[in-house]
Amino acid sequence: MPDTPSILADLEADTSIAAANLFTALATEYLAETATREGPVSTGRTRAELNLRFDEPLPRGGMALEAVVARLRDEVLPDCNRLYHPRYVGHQVSAPLPAAIWTESLTAALNQSLAVAEMSPTATALEHRVVRWMCDLVGYGAAAGGTLTSGGTEATLTGLLAARSAAIPDVWTNGIGADAPVVVCGEHAHYAVSRAVGEMGLGLRNIVVIPSRDWRMDVEALSTTLDTLLRDGRRVMAVVATAGSTATGSFDDLHAIGTLCERHGIWLHVDGAHGASALLSGTHRHRLRGIELARSIAWDPHKMMLLPLSAGLVLVREERDLEGAFAQRAPYLFHGADEGERVWDQGVRSFLCSRRADVLKLWVALQRYGADGLGRLYDGLCDVARAMHSAIEAHPSFVALHAPESNILCFRWIGDGSMGDDELDVVNRGLRERYNRSGAGWITATNLAGRRVLRVTIMNARTTAADVEEVIAGLAREAGAMGAV
Ligand SMILES: Cc1ncc(COP(=O)(O)O)c(C=O)c1O
Repeated sequence: MPDTPSILADLEADTSIAAANLFTALATEYLAETATREGPVSTGRTRAELNLRFDEPLPRGGMALEAVVARLRDEVLPDCNRLYHPRYVGHQVSAPLPAAIWTESLTAALNQSLAVAEMSPTATALEHRVVRWMCDLVGYGAAAGGTLTSGGTEATLTGLLAARSAAIPDVWTNGIGADAPVVVCGEHAHYAVSRAVGEMGLGLRNIVVIPSRDWRMDVEALSTTLDTLLRDGRRVMAVVATAGSTATGSFDDLHAIGTLCERHGIWLHVDGAHGASALLSGTHRHRLRGIELARSIAWDPHKMMLLPLSAGLVLVREERDLEGAFAQRAPYLFHGADEGERVWDQGVRSFLCSRRADVLKLWVALQRYGADGLGRLYDGLCDVARAMHSAIEAHPSFVALHAPESNILCFRWIGDGSMGDDELDVVNRGLRERYNRSGAGWITATNLAGRRVLRVTIMNARTTAADVEEVIAGLAREAGAMGAV
């Protein structure tokens, strides 16, 4: 085992540009190799094979950095999912913006913690600045605020915690009591909503689900449900609308839902984890009409702003509502407001204590590519989804299940139409597994109306219409190889 002086020497050696280049060289090789469209998109190896590869005792002594990087190159990278490959069209995780990738090592090197302003002087200033820009995009006034989060799940929990404090002002001290309020959401809401309800101790039976019409919340059904709940004396803590649903990328009618909520004095939370980035796009912004009526919004820059994980955001129309969400007293850590000023410590507004400065990569991305540039990227991703929709409509063996409102598309292999729905469920499940294992591309799947369907999300600026046509052709080839007709 190396002695202390040699470890200190290793640490110093690892601060050099030569050491850093070992890692950046790996990353740039990956970016270059995936641009060629050669090589598998994912791995054909089993979980057991991969577990076996790393099944070794805890290393008690260190090894040369070159040897560690060689293990990354030889053992980790070859069996990764290659999100930068143009035919990776799987989950909603981006092929991240290069300038944001490189910012990550700086974020780690600086290691500023966002809970307390004195631990992150410039990063706290930047977080307040970026939050304000995002609030302006929403159309919020001067009282608005927000904080970065680990993602949409935490952002929705935070928004609903704020709603809970607004509905039950003494909840932090006395709990929710026997008469728990109700949370209303659409049937296609992300599980972040039910998870938050569970976490907050409201009880899942206090979720009221509104059915969809054309994959969007049925506003008439919402209106009737709210009338019934209020007539029955139920307290409605929040309505959650979705802007960019996970399954189909559909947008609820925020204007109509927001108007209803305003009329009843109900908190509207918009889960815009996926779709709020449409605010950057001249073409798609209209899908968010009415978003400014929300009291809280979840927005994930690590989705459609193509940042590397993690970068989420919760915005609130009134910043003080977030302080209500976490009515935390920690005078040993947080500093009170200077006379007449607001508290700068973001820890009073966010779930985490130690929190990395994810704002740096967001700020760098905005500086480097501009909000308009990111909006054009958003448009491009949606254009490719539309091109795929047209190609599927033209293919006799597939059917599209909806016209894409964003970059997400669900479809189903139907062959020559002779199979029943149950049989098609089995074939579609097997087809996806087989195609993904082939390495030619990588897609995902979901359940829609009780049926197994294929699903793609276009999260890579390199993916073209020709790539998604190749994905369809590859799926058709695999279906043929399975003996499906
Ligand atoms: C609509 C929606 N909300 C919330 C989430 C959860 O976001 P995160 O994974 O960043 O926590 C997702 C992720 O897929 C989503 O699609």
